[in-house]
Amino acid sequence: MENRSNFGSKLGVILASAGSAVGLGNVWRFPTEVGNNGGAAFILIYLLCVVFVGVPVMVSEFLIGRHTHANTISAYQKLAPGTWWRYEGVAGVFIAFLILSYYVVISGWTLYYFVLSLTGYFAQGKDYVACFSSFVSHPVQPIVYAAIFMLMTHLVISKGVESGIERFSKVMMPMLLFIIGILVVCSFGMPGASDGLSFLLRPDFSKVTTNVVLSAMGQAFFSLSLAMGCLCTYASYFGSDTRLVKTAFSVSAIDTVVAILSGFIIFPAVFSVADVEVNAGPGLVFITLPNVFYLAFSHMPVVGYVFSGLFYVLLLLAALTSAMSLHESVTAYVHESMHLSRRRSAALVSVSCMLLGVGCSLSFGPWSDYTVFGMTMFDLFDFVASKIIMPLGGIVICLFVGWKLDRKLVRDELTNGGTLRFRFFRFYLFLVRWAVPLAIALIFIHELLG
Ligand code: TRP
Repeated sequence: MENRSNFGSKLGVILASAGSAVGLGNVWRFPTEVGNNGGAAFILIYLLCVVFVGVPVMVSEFLIGRHTHANTISAYQKLAPGTWWRYEGVAGVFIAFLILSYYVVISGWTLYYFVLSLTGYFAQGKDYVACFSSFVSHPVQPIVYAAIFMLMTHLVISKGVESGIERFSKVMMPMLLFIIGILVVCSFGMPGASDGLSFLLRPDFSKVTTNVVLSAMGQAFFSLSLAMGCLCTYASYFGSDTRLVKTAFSVSAIDTVVAILSGFIIFPAVFSVADVEVNAGPGLVFITLPNVFYLAFSHMPVVGYVFSGLFYVLLLLAALTSAMSLHESVTAYVHESMHLSRRRSAALVSVSCMLLGVGCSLSFGPWSDYTVFGMTMFDLFDFVASKIIMPLGGIVICLFVGWKLDRKLVRDELTNGGTLRFRFFRFYLFLVRWAVPLAIALIFIHELLG
């Protein structure tokens, strides 16, 4: 095979991986889940899931990718030729493709709302519920926005790893962090912000059920971009001096801080508008927040403008860097295994994924009556990906690294050939062999039976 590209710097490695992790999952999905599942209690369970489940799985994915320097499907084939393990790679790439198809739909909404914010739309005090539902159920408009977003992702991916993914992540991630800082200040300045803060900080354990735990775990997997080959693919571009464990901790930390700060942006703001519900579901950032922006506009137009505009830029940047990783996971496979050029592979993935995206978008409008098990296409894709394949994928990855791979190979990868110390190696092995698979399986089975 031709020389494979690599990330050029350590900062590039961290920012690209963090770019994958930080996405709509942090800014849109996390606050929604927190709102639905009892506020601070959910956050505590989420933190436990990140540290004890997320980080070990991430380390495992990193080591598989970096050791093989191959796309996810080939990685499993290289490590365990001719065995069933290869289906883990296949499932990952396939589901990354499904996730991308609905991810671009929501990202398209974000793009539309960004355009609206530029036109001063949120200063006008409309019925934002009606506006949102008429937009998402429109048969053409949201598809156009999704297609523009897909094109943006496509352009970055077709530029390649170092001059595409790495270069853009290095610009976009610092911008994103800076914007978050400004938005937290805006949100804290809203009247009634303290109610939102106490909702986030005071745990209510009466709401905690196994479903809440499964949701927290699903959210951790989704937010950390686990089990779909994204991080495994990125790790295949890591250099031999990249410290895998340290990188996994840094990426998880950045991701978690961004998720919690997003809570700090959204809840104080939301509580400032008395009559909206906290658990407003997917409408949170598209219905509830516009009301908040309207309120901000009526107090101080400049704040309203900055707040609304920057918020949607934030979502857009977050979405773009994540969509890039989902795209890359599939493109790397098509490029390397089907012997197509990188540009052609990227084009093939963009177009075919967009076709599915059209279906997801229509499922909010003309196709909303077509359901499977009571779920529309969009809901079905999200359910299959985050509630079924992700937990199962997590179990398989752990078992693969814990039982199938040679212990020496694992240790060598984690210590960069013995040059680093890794004091918790035994604990890590215990986690991936027993604790994590069992924990995921228990929660998963309980949920299925319940
Ligand atoms: N982690 C991203 C987010 O928080 C989404 C994402 C990117 C993802 N790659 C993934 C989710 C792989 C699951 C698997 O929005």
